[in-house]
Amino acid sequence: MGPEPGRGRFITLEGGEGAGKTTLSRALAGALAASGLPVLRTREPGGAPGAEAVRALILGGGSWDPVAEAMLHFAARREHVARTIGPALDAGIWVVCDRFADSTLAYQGAGQGLSRDVWECLCGLTLGALRPDLTLLLDLPPERGMGRALSRGDANRYERQSDAFHARVRDGFLAIAAQEPERCVVLDASRSPGEVLDLSLAAIRNRLGVAA
Ligand code: TYD
Repeated sequence: MGPEPGRGRFITLEGGEGAGKTTLSRALAGALAASGLPVLRTREPGGAPGAEAVRALILGGGSWDPVAEAMLHFAARREHVARTIGPALDAGIWVVCDRFADSTLAYQGAGQGLSRDVWECLCGLTLGALRPDLTLLLDLPPERGMGRALSRGDANRYERQSDAFHARVRDGFLAIAAQEPERCVVLDASRSPGEVLDLSLAAIRNRLGVAA
C-alpha cells in the first residue's frame, strides 16, 4: 500500500476544544520543514476563500438542523480539498490539517445526532478517495479542554454547548480511533506540548515510515 510516489502525505489533527491542536500543528509543521519536507499548514472550517466564508457563517451564529450544518461543513471542506489540500498533495507537499471529516462525525454526529450513514454519504460526495494518511487525536477530558478554550475568550457556538455535548464529542472521537486504529493514533493531550510533539513525530516515523 502507501501513497503514490511523489505525492505528499496528509496528516490531520483532531480533538475537542482546548486540546492543543493549533500548538501541535505549528510545532509539527516546523519539525517536518526542518527535516527538509515541504509542508503546508491549514485548518477547518476554512483553508480556502470560499471555505473561510462558510466558516464565518457557521461560527458566527445561526441555527441549522444537523444535516444542514454538516452540509455546510462539507461544502467548506470540498472547497478546501479542491483548492488547497488536493493541489498541495499532488505537488508533493505534506499537509498538516487542524480538523477534518472526523470533526463532523464527532461534533455533528456524536454531538448533534447526525447519522453515520449521512456522514458517509457526504464523505463520498465530497472527498472521493481522499482520506488522511495519519490522524493524531489529541484526547483530553472535556472539562480540562473547555477550561483552556474558555480562557481564550470569545467562545464560538460549539464551545458554548453543554458538558454532555462535549463528553459525547470526546467519545465520538475515541470511537473513530478505535474503529480505525491503522489510521488513528490517540495522544494524551494533558502531556506537555514538547511531549505531544515527540509522540506525534514517533507516530509519523512508525506509521508513515518517514524519518521526520
Ligand atoms: P475553531 O475556533 O477553529 O476551534 P478549534 O480551535 O477548537 O478547532 O472553531 C472550529 C469549531 O468548529 C470547533 O468548535 C469545532 C467545530 N467543527 C464542527 O463542529 N464540525 C466540523 O466538521 C469542523 C471542521 C469543526
